[in-house]
Amino acid sequence: TRYARITGTGSHLPARRLTNDDMATLLAQRGLQTSDEWIVERTGIRARHFAADGEMASDLALQASLQALAAAGRQPHEVDLIVVATSTPDMVFPSTATILQRKLHEAALAQGGQGPIGAAAFDVQAVCTGFIYALTVADALIRAGTARCALVVGAEVFSRILNFDDRTTCVLFGDGAGAVVLEATEHDGSGPGVLATDIHADGRHTGILCVPGTVAGGQVLGDPLLRMDGQAVFKLAVGVLEETARTTLAKAGMTEADLDWLVPHQANIRIMQSTARKLKLPMERVVVTVDQHGNTSAASIPLALDHAVRAGRIQPGQLLMLEGVGGGFTWGSALVRY
Ligand code: ACO
Repeated sequence: TRYARITGTGSHLPARRLTNDDMATLLAQRGLQTSDEWIVERTGIRARHFAADGEMASDLALQASLQALAAAGRQPHEVDLIVVATSTPDMVFPSTATILQRKLHEAALAQGGQGPIGAAAFDVQAVCTGFIYALTVADALIRAGTARCALVVGAEVFSRILNFDDRTTCVLFGDGAGAVVLEATEHDGSGPGVLATDIHADGRHTGILCVPGTVAGGQVLGDPLLRMDGQAVFKLAVGVLEETARTTLAKAGMTEADLDWLVPHQANIRIMQSTARKLKLPMERVVVTVDQHGNTSAASIPLALDHAVRAGRIQPGQLLMLEGVGGGFTWGSALVRY
């Protein structure tokens, strides 16, 4: 049987790092009060990175992608599919994936090589579940024989859509990118690969987490900044995360006892602790980067994955549960033999 296997991971964070104390200083300039203590206790976040002026999602995606390709031992021209998950694209169109394709080509030319020109390239928009959606689509295209070597990226610059007059949301998010190279492989199911995926949405809840503005007639119409009902998101998140994890495990004929690692979307330590408890996983088997990255939306899962791989924590042959939840409302999971 054909499977899609992760052969390389990469990630990138912008240079500018803000601690909670830095956020407190920033908010104080607007007459708002917050503290390291409040943020750590409610969310587990200690620091986040913000992109520089002019630094776009595709720039972060490029660095993460080059790292992932190097880890996989692949050249850019070998990629035949690029899927970028983002809710903060460089522009309305074309897709951030095609801009990444051009930047990969330029980077390859500088090294005397060729970029992935001619590869299919498109964006996927499922907010914080974006990477799970992108991985699911790329896995399906590889299994169908449409693609052989895919670059799957989550890249976000949420700092651009934060309302710094709203202390309940602006302290939660950060910028960054993570990438994986996904390649076709054949085995009986015991080898590495994406073993099962599960994605869902419930459009009745579009309003609880959204950036409701749009561009029309040469102007921004409506509010172009992030709004969230944190408690509504929290309540929905904990239920669906357990459900989707159980569904993917069942599809692969496995149980939570088979899992080596939970690699969750990094929104909030309390959501992760609650999911871990429900899956009877000790926190030592949960990859946590929210303390250093904040919530990087579609980038958070591949960022966490890459950090755990590079730290030597995630080892070949281990079973990983990737899962996420986000605006839409969307949620999903992927069971991966690394
Ligand atoms: N600093 C200090 N005080 C604050 C801050 C802040 N940054 N923000 C809010 N407060 C105050 C509030 O004003 C309120 O004060 P009051 O009691 O005097 O009115 C108090 O803290 C409690 O506010 P709540 O909003 O009720 O705080 P809550 O305990 O719900 O925590 C949080 C808020 C962290 C957002 C929580 O609801 C949560 O974790 N929700 C999950 C949503 C989430 O993580 N979303 C991430 C994006 S979604 C995704 O990625 C899927």
